Amino acid sequence: MPFAVGIGPGGESEQDLLRGIDGVSRPETVGQTERRRLAEFSGRQFRNALGRFATGVTVVTTMTENGPLAMTVNSFASVSLSPPLVLWSPARESDRFPAFEVAPYFAIHILAREQESLSIRFAASGDDFDGVDFAEGLGRSPILPDCAAVFECRHAAGHDGGDHLIVVGEVLRISEREAAPLLYYRGGYADLAHR
Ligand SMILES: Cc1cc2nc3c(=O)[nH]c(=O)nc-3n(C[C@H](O)[C@H](O)[C@H](O)COP(=O)(O)O)c2cc1C
Repeated sequence: MPFAVGIGPGGESEQDLLRGIDGVSRPETVGQTERRRLAEFSGRQFRNALGRFATGVTVVTTMTENGPLAMTVNSFASVSLSPPLVLWSPARESDRFPAFEVAPYFAIHILAREQESLSIRFAASGDDFDGVDFAEGLGRSPILPDCAAVFECRHAAGHDGGDHLIVVGEVLRISEREAAPLLYYRGGYADLAHR
């Protein structure tokens, strides 16, 4: 499915919509203009609906030739237990994208509740490590202390994800500690009410 369309505004079925004007079914080639016409929702509505999915918050770090780089990310997900794979999705339009796209190693940090300031910092700026304590892990990826968990990864694959890239990491090393997680819900930070 290239795009979630449901039933079209003119009562067309999903298949009708995907078939296009010449009756040929080729969902992969539905262009951007066509996609906009088919969608029953605005970009804002899409973002709002996605915001109903409560997530944790991670910071992904890597070492570049210009120094340490980080990005606050909530697109993290587990993929496979054997081999151990995880994924995350950097936006192509981010200034940090070119560095993360080619990074052979990166570290994904699950933030603890007390680390909201790190999330804010690395959402605003990727290279502002001023006063931030870190060690160097595999491939020299910066490892931030006091996180709920850290996954040190090797870049295993990159898949097209529209305006994002789906980066799959093979997990080579993990650490974890007992800590309540920082959560993100409907555009704001939250924490667990019950456990
Ligand atoms: C909670 C939260 C989650 C985010 N998740 C992602 C993400 O999964 N992918 C992404 O590309 N940017 C994500 N961002 C945005 C980036 O942290 C950062 O703001 C963005 O890369 C800034 O772009 P720049 O590099 O052009 O300054 C998230 C921001 C916040 C606050």
